[in-house]
Amino acid sequence: MKPRIFVTRIIPDEGLKLLRRDKRVTVDVYEHDKIIPRTELLRRVKGATAILPILTDKIDAQLFDAAGPSLRMVANYAVGFDNVDLTEAAKRGIVVTNTPGLEIAETVAEHTIAFIFALAHRLVETDQFARDGKYHGWGPQMLLGTDVIGKTLGIIGTGKIGEGVVKRMYEGFGVKIVYNDVRRNETIEKEELATFMTLEGVLKTADFISLHVPLLPSTRHLIGAKQLKLMKKTAFLINTSRGPVIDEKALIAALQKKQIAGAGIDVYEHEPDIPLALRKLQNVVITPHTASATIETRQVMSRRAAENILAFLDGKTPPNAVKTQK
Ligand code: DGY
Repeated sequence: MKPRIFVTRIIPDEGLKLLRRDKRVTVDVYEHDKIIPRTELLRRVKGATAILPILTDKIDAQLFDAAGPSLRMVANYAVGFDNVDLTEAAKRGIVVTNTPGLEIAETVAEHTIAFIFALAHRLVETDQFARDGKYHGWGPQMLLGTDVIGKTLGIIGTGKIGEGVVKRMYEGFGVKIVYNDVRRNETIEKEELATFMTLEGVLKTADFISLHVPLLPSTRHLIGAKQLKLMKKTAFLINTSRGPVIDEKALIAALQKKQIAGAGIDVYEHEPDIPLALRKLQNVVITPHTASATIETRQVMSRRAAENILAFLDGKTPPNAVKTQK
């Protein structure tokens, strides 16, 4: 019998075409465009050699047990891999890959920049105002926003995405940028695009603060009540990384009290739940985990996941193998 690859959701076609073209394997795709129910997932992984899950599938010991010893590889369709128990995978010698890359980083950076301007110019709120028929004539004090040019942007985490935001905001708008990371970023420092600060320093200084860290034990609730208190009353917080990086309850409280000016949020602590209290707020722009959702990028992710599987089947180290992190 040929090795079977199980794909847990219909993904853009380029990667599927690559896999299907390979006559060594059988490609089995969960045929519905919705999250596969857990029981179905556990049933369908049985006997698979590789699985291509999406970030909503929990890939843990229970799933590895259900798959059985045939399972050799998990090719996660996402840059993040917090849905995969890496320790358990390593224990069983199962290779895990993700789909990083410049194209994906640029798409998420674009979404972040869209948040910055949407918040500054109150785009969602003013769009709603106009649609609701509330515009009865121009007024000098009507729906005032704030300029981005002349402000300070704070970036927390300067991997490819954070770096992309830094470059574009510096080159395009000349904003002053401060950043914090566990490691100093040589590229942006050498090019003098941004100034390194402590996390506290960034929180106290910046007018727009954007998070670009992976979800790790050390970044869970990186931003909580204490950190939100350090931010300026006029500052905005943006999160396109992972929901649990922010203590969501503390954020909602800070927004309700107008302790900060607003937030642009793409990811949530308990997805797909977006708390009603957050949805009711005027001073937020919220998107449903779509920061990487462009046709181009989702095709790249599809190709990358497939290429990782094919490299593995060729006996090579897949280009995007991930290691256990702390
Ligand atoms: C990722 O890749 O981790 C994003 O959250 C979805 O594209």
